[in-house]
Amino acid sequence: VDGRPVGIFDSGAGGLTVLHECLVTMPHEDFVYLGDGARCPYGPRPAPEIARYALEIASYLETLGVKLILAACNSATAAALPLLQERLALPVVGVLAPEARAAVQTTRNRAIGLLATEATVASRRYARAVHELDAGAHVVEVACPKLVPLIEAGASAADDLLDAVREYAAPLKDAGCDTVILGCTHYPLIRPVFERVFGRAVTLVSSAEETAREVAETLARKGVENDAGREGRCRFLTTGPSEEFRLLGERFLQLPIGAVERVALTDLERAAA
Ligand code: DGL
Repeated sequence: VDGRPVGIFDSGAGGLTVLHECLVTMPHEDFVYLGDGARCPYGPRPAPEIARYALEIASYLETLGVKLILAACNSATAAALPLLQERLALPVVGVLAPEARAAVQTTRNRAIGLLATEATVASRRYARAVHELDAGAHVVEVACPKLVPLIEAGASAADDLLDAVREYAAPLKDAGCDTVILGCTHYPLIRPVFERVFGRAVTLVSSAEETAREVAETLARKGVENDAGREGRCRFLTTGPSEEFRLLGERFLQLPIGAVERVALTDLERAAA
């Protein structure tokens, strides 16, 4: 039995969609979630900058004594997964590969759409991951810079959000994609909007469930699971405004989040130094 928590991070609240699946799959594990609200969104930033932030956060989580780190952010996974795996002594799991696999398995016409941040699209990681699994599949990629800020803004942005999703969905519908990857962990927070815009003919793929399974398998194979009979706890940290995070988190997880601890960016920087 290994009582250490699992560390999860994202630029903001998007990783909560992955945390949710982890709670369903591993109710007996403890989790520490860190949202980098002060520097959200990551999507418009250059890859080296995102990689530096991801390394700082992962190093900080390591100082808290976690047993595995889950990068619950596609932009951070695209920019930094190999770097984190090289630099940390812990297992590091990301979100991108499980989705690419699910999309290849799902599509019938082999036209796959991708909605993601600018950083994730620019990395071409999805297109490459899909091609490795099926060289005949075609990926239509659309960067969606408006979505993360609108989702973080919450209910007040609902009208703009629907318009933005329609705009980003149009090229995928024109291309006849039968499967669309929600390639950003924020997007499942507004899944009903995507479902309405795409309708029944399109299958939406998101990584949370597959990723949670990968974390569970990793813990099991390494023999570092917590006692199956217990109920796990979650601890929440943010670099941004804690009240905003708490409201968004409680609405999405349907879980009293309680106190959200504030982490200073200087603490993150120090951890990676
Ligand atoms: N949830 C992050 C992702 O998956 C959001 C990135 C951002 O902050 O723009 O890409």
